[in-house]
Amino acid sequence: MINRIFYILLISQLWACNKSQSGEDDQSTESNPEFMGGKSGTIFDASSNAYKAPINDLSEDDMAKHLVGDGFFESRFVTSPAVVNPGLGPLFNNTGCDGCHQKEGRGKPMVGRGPQGSQMLVFVSMPTGEPEVPGGPVPVPGIGFQILDQAVFGQTPNAVVSLTWEEQPEQTFEDGAPYTLRKPKLNLTLADGSAFPSGMLQSVRQPLPVFGLGLLEAIPEADIIANESATGKVPGRLNWVWSVTENSKVLGRFGRKASIPSVVEQAGKAFALDIGLVNEVFKEIAQGATGPNDEPIEISKEAIEGAAFYLQTLAVPARRNMKDTDVLRGEALFTELGCVGCHQPQWKTGDHSVKGLANQVIFPYSDFLLHDMGDGLADNRPDFEATGKEWRTPTLWGIGLTETILPQASYLHDGRARSLTEAILWHSGQAEAMKEGFRGLPVTDRDALIKFLRSL
Ligand code: HEC
Ligand code: HEC
Repeated sequence: MINRIFYILLISQLWACNKSQSGEDDQSTESNPEFMGGKSGTIFDASSNAYKAPINDLSEDDMAKHLVGDGFFESRFVTSPAVVNPGLGPLFNNTGCDGCHQKEGRGKPMVGRGPQGSQMLVFVSMPTGEPEVPGGPVPVPGIGFQILDQAVFGQTPNAVVSLTWEEQPEQTFEDGAPYTLRKPKLNLTLADGSAFPSGMLQSVRQPLPVFGLGLLEAIPEADIIANESATGKVPGRLNWVWSVTENSKVLGRFGRKASIPSVVEQAGKAFALDIGLVNEVFKEIAQGATGPNDEPIEISKEAIEGAAFYLQTLAVPARRNMKDTDVLRGEALFTELGCVGCHQPQWKTGDHSVKGLANQVIFPYSDFLLHDMGDGLADNRPDFEATGKEWRTPTLWGIGLTETILPQASYLHDGRARSLTEAILWHSGQAEAMKEGFRGLPVTDRDALIKFLRSL
């Protein structure tokens, strides 16, 4: 705790120092892309802790809430009965949030039984049948929507999961330089040896980074909705999804198919399913476990809201090397090739009870809409209105620090891309022309585009 407070003080000093050096006044920071998370939401830190810093201008009370929430996010849970953090399981994927979102980043593309669990999730559903909530996916009998591949002592996990990678045939850039991409192959076996229902749909997911989420939530809903019919961009679609807290359909913002309405709901769901803690926010609990499904509450609503508040008040790292000539060239190419048609640079947040989240000009590089990305990336598992080929444009802010945060991290929904170059080369469907544009660039321009992405 002392360490953290010291760290926060240090960061705010660096911040003050940076501001005075650049002589930035309020006017020019308003829409200065160096300030990716806006004036209040940007942190000048390019270290491996860059995703873990609070936004500036937090009140004393909010800072206290942030620190308490951090405690929940970083807790590791154990089997009941225990004095500290009991309630793990009976089935689960990992023992704590940061077991997957390592350093508040994306985690590694790995599944299976490690000492603490998996970092990837496998979502499942049936192609036809009765959805659990209106318009939602159809649960797999005895399992639900997520494979829980770990279990506490004496219980059996849903399945044994293993992931291998298949190298694809060699391809070339237009200048003849070769590359090979890899695709994941998921092997699922029911733990008791019986077969999964035939036709079961499955989708492997690498964790998403979790910083800057309060800023994203503070973007007015009307602005995202208006984007669906905006001209001059690549058309995309909204996902209308079931909210368990509001008991109605609402706009989906989070998750790789925009199937989650809010950070609080995602936190509740993660505590319930990924870690196995019975809670009031997300009532559905691990299926397939033996024993009663009406266990007492294992984690309070306050703790879930606390963990969510922590993520909502995490800042975004500032851009680096913005004036580098290659970076500027790469930025121009990003626009010319049409990447901005989906990775829309700039947004503005609306009013918010947390001052630092309100009315900020931010640069997340996403349109928050679903796009058909072609057969290569398709998981063929629809989620509410998202089809099996559609994915929500991911944010690109902070992406340049991915390998600083976690050297083994990779890109795209299932972590198949080992580099930013591979991530672009997988683009197809609505992004086919932009991918082809990239493939046709001379190597110096390809490098410049990657350098631009690294400056984000
Ligand atoms: C077993 C690994 C795992 C654990 C444990 C886990 N997550 Fe996640 N998390 C994921 C994956 C995978 C995704 C992407 C889901 C998808 O594809 O929709 C994700 C997505 C998210 C998102 C959405 C981010 C965005 O930008 O859309 C939030 C928020 C989040 N997790 C919060 C949490 C919290 C809070 C906890 C602890 C209670 C937690 N997670 C525990 C794997 C995990
Ligand atoms: C049609 C919309 C669209 C266009 C155009 C587009 N992207 Fe994407 N981009 C996406 C989507 C959707 C994903 C996520 C796909 C997935 O995970 O399977 C993505 C993923 C990425 C990623 C990986 C992000 C991560 O966190 O793993 C990078 C990097 C990226 N895009 C860069 C680019 C660049 C550079 C261009 C231009 C050459 C571009 N994109 C054009 C929609 C688009």
